Amino acid sequence: MKPEERIKELVKILNQASYEYYVLDNPTISDQEYDDYFLELRNLEDKYPELKQDDSPTIKVGGSVLDKFEKVRHTTPMLSFDDIFNEDEIIDFDERIKKTVASPTYTLEPKMDGLSGSLIYENGVLVRAATRGDGITGEDITLNVKTIRSVPLRLKDNIDIEVRGEIYMSKDSFIKNNKEREKEGLPLFANPRNAAAGSIRQLDSKIAAKRGLDFVAYFLPNPEQYSIKTQSDSIKYLNDLGFKTNIKLNGFAHNAKEVWNYIEDLRSKRKDLPFPIDGVVLKVDSLKEEEELGTTSRVPRWGIAYKFPAEEVLTTLQDIIFTVGRTGKITPNAILSPVHVDGSLVSRATLHNEDYVISKDLRIGDVVSLRKAGDVIPEVVEAKLERRTGKEIPFTMISNCPMCNHQLERVVGQADWYCLNLSCPAKKIESLIFYASRDAMNIDGLGDQIIEDLYNLEYIKNIDDFYTLSKYKEEILELEGYGEKSYTNMINAINNSKNNSLERLLCGLGIPGIGKKTAKILAKYFNNIDNLINASYEDLKNIYDIGEILADSVVKFFKDESNLSLINRLKDLGVNTTYHAEEMNINENFKDKKFVITGTLEIMKRDELKRYIENAGGTTVDSVSKNVDVVIVGDSPGSKYTKAKELNIEIWTEEELKDKI
Ligand code: IVH
Repeated sequence: MKPEERIKELVKILNQASYEYYVLDNPTISDQEYDDYFLELRNLEDKYPELKQDDSPTIKVGGSVLDKFEKVRHTTPMLSFDDIFNEDEIIDFDERIKKTVASPTYTLEPKMDGLSGSLIYENGVLVRAATRGDGITGEDITLNVKTIRSVPLRLKDNIDIEVRGEIYMSKDSFIKNNKEREKEGLPLFANPRNAAAGSIRQLDSKIAAKRGLDFVAYFLPNPEQYSIKTQSDSIKYLNDLGFKTNIKLNGFAHNAKEVWNYIEDLRSKRKDLPFPIDGVVLKVDSLKEEEELGTTSRVPRWGIAYKFPAEEVLTTLQDIIFTVGRTGKITPNAILSPVHVDGSLVSRATLHNEDYVISKDLRIGDVVSLRKAGDVIPEVVEAKLERRTGKEIPFTMISNCPMCNHQLERVVGQADWYCLNLSCPAKKIESLIFYASRDAMNIDGLGDQIIEDLYNLEYIKNIDDFYTLSKYKEEILELEGYGEKSYTNMINAINNSKNNSLERLLCGLGIPGIGKKTAKILAKYFNNIDNLINASYEDLKNIYDIGEILADSVVKFFKDESNLSLINRLKDLGVNTTYHAEEMNINENFKDKKFVITGTLEIMKRDELKRYIENAGGTTVDSVSKNVDVVIVGDSPGSKYTKAKELNIEIWTEEELKDKI
């Protein structure tokens, strides 16, 4: 057989096998057979690169590395639905629809918890994929989407078509990725949605390929081109074209009661589904009726997204362990039998302090209920007393530091116990971790575990030792898990941090009471560290926002000879100690207004947006109250969104935000 023909044949066999494995979940050939064909194809492609097909499965392992993602404009805006949270709101929705459409049929679909993507096929071949972005323009993620195993590189028909759906991470992949990250000392993904969003934005497509992302199709922006008349037929069509869909899970309803029954049924299945969902999407099935209902300036009127309430699940409290913080504060932590709560795996939760554990009478061995506070932080709600067997072990607070055995102290009237040993290794490690953290020097590539290892090896004892770490290059390269590349990345990240503006250093120094916000105030006010060192208690106290306790803390810190010599050493090593003033760039839409941000934003990170707002003349606060002017709502917003609606506060979606910027 000619190489050209064999290549064609192999591509066909392998793509069919992938489809059966990843889309139908019904493999027909063994892994070994697949690998053999794959190797044969790869060898042929290496030999005859000009014969490589644009739907070759070898594309799925990734390869190219980008400098940045290009922007792409969507053919039609990529909208999303309004969110609702309870049965009453479903009744309202149903009534609203029935004012325009007498007897609608609704299609009900699981609301996938990932990020939406648009895939464009020309002549049946995948040519472009983009994120939603602000709905008008997204980012070109074609190379990464091509690595998603369930995304067909060629459709069953040679048509031109745009397909929209959700890029997500299955629960299994999420667990696997986090296990690997834990081993490598990298920060864990908080939930599958963050993991998917982070993975699809990898510039190196090989990394994206390894994360095991998935794609489910649920929307056709131009259904009329294929003579499709209903949403449910769109799904059938997508399914037949070779996409993964939720065709078997989707349902129908004609009124609010039926919708609610579907929601309850899906909720009971939720924990057994292999993928994360966070609610149910309701769509009017008939596309003609959808057209009649139309779209508001932001969202379609013909559909809505119901979001599940925060889930409460039961698990066992296996142990209570104690950790020592940067300041020596002792925190009890619950070690739990791992369970999924709202789509993420939880095996640990903070128990804050002694009083908290005692007030809940938590005992080791208890069955406890767990929920996600504020969407991400797992929280132990209570012990299930009716499940007690009598074998549970009551909690006792420790009296000595778990790291250095120093006697712990508790200030009368305060809830926390402290290890006051100045050279307690746990405190040292925590302060090094804090120095590198995002709020402080923001040194990417220095995970908690790496810092702990470097401390235990005595390569880093103090924060200035970060900047001379390269003298241990040979030794570090010999450690398990370190290659030339990760070493270079780490050293580069450390060196880059030398250029940070003063507020990051001030925060990283760990002056008691001085966090990100006050560090910024001080940096702005004093402009360089010498002015701050020379400032008196009175000077400090006169600054708005700096009270007596903070003023005292700063003065004490800079009186200490060892702190001053640390600062001199940092200066000698080239660490910047001046404030990089940001030029104000007033934007009337933001000026003198108070903002709250909730939910995940795609256009920029939350921190970046906060900086933008401050720079534009506005302020940001964390909680919604009457004094807030605008609440900016991203994807999957929390209770702040509900509260903003209750208080009738102006709400901006991401699209609106983009306009205002
Ligand atoms: S349809 C016009 N169907 O949830 C809206 N979206 O507001 C077209 N989502 O951001 C989207 N599962 O990312 C649709 N079965 C589903 C969905 C779904 C999840 C996401 C989507 C969108 C939001 C809905």
